[in-house]
Amino acid sequence: MNSSAHSSLLTDLDTAQLPAHVAIIMDGNGRWAKKRLFNRIKGHEKGVETVRNIVQACREIGISILTLYAFSTENWQRSKVEVAALMTLLKKFLKSEQKEMIYNNIRLNTIGQIKRLPEGVRQTLHNTIALTKDNNGMLLNLALSYGGRAEIVRAVKKIAIKVREGKIDPDSITTELISDHLYTKGMPDPDLLIRTSGEMRISNFLLWQIAYAEIFVTDTLWPDFGKDEFLHILKDYQRRERRFGKV
Ligand code: FPP
Repeated sequence: MNSSAHSSLLTDLDTAQLPAHVAIIMDGNGRWAKKRLFNRIKGHEKGVETVRNIVQACREIGISILTLYAFSTENWQRSKVEVAALMTLLKKFLKSEQKEMIYNNIRLNTIGQIKRLPEGVRQTLHNTIALTKDNNGMLLNLALSYGGRAEIVRAVKKIAIKVREGKIDPDSITTELISDHLYTKGMPDPDLLIRTSGEMRISNFLLWQIAYAEIFVTDTLWPDFGKDEFLHILKDYQRRERRFGKV
């Protein structure tokens, strides 16, 4: 698609009706590589390029929060080689994008069990988070060693401790209070959840937060996903009527 086609899609969008928070399950790197007889790592490398393009697209379009499922708690069970390659790619990505994030006023944040990540990755994450902490153009949330159930367990434990200490009365436990004990505290829930590569699954992603999200599943593999398809999904999102359980 040429740039004028891009810009007409962009002008077609109603900027007043954009999703504030977009969450993406980036799937299909392995299949992309397999189709080309490459090893899986090549698929992840290509996937990083898509990450770059979609972050840039969100910033241009005016999305406030983008949450990417980069590594799940289940992903630790992949081969040592693949886990190490993903960690190296993540570190490289952060280092190469730091300047771009500063320039584009993007703030980096992580959700998940960051303590489980290798020391070098944690250092680079802390460094990038510190460098971008005052940026307010867009929030990029990377879900790393993230699992929705583990996040809820963590929140329940935090609340239980406060109840034991007498800081919270069990009768005052509300949905808002639970939201405030999740990694996404203070953020609006995702309005739009996209999954690439066709599987009709949530895969333990943002279980609590997606209660009312609009879900889009595309057959496109993550490395082939691009700005034009993203714009089409946003357009489609704007045609949907969101009722939040009301009539
Ligand atoms: C799914 O593909 C993707 C992942 C497990 C990780 C996503 C990671 C990236 C896009 C690269 C690193 C991320 C950042 C933010 C730099 P899959 O391997 O499950 O594909 P398959 O289902 O086709 O095997």
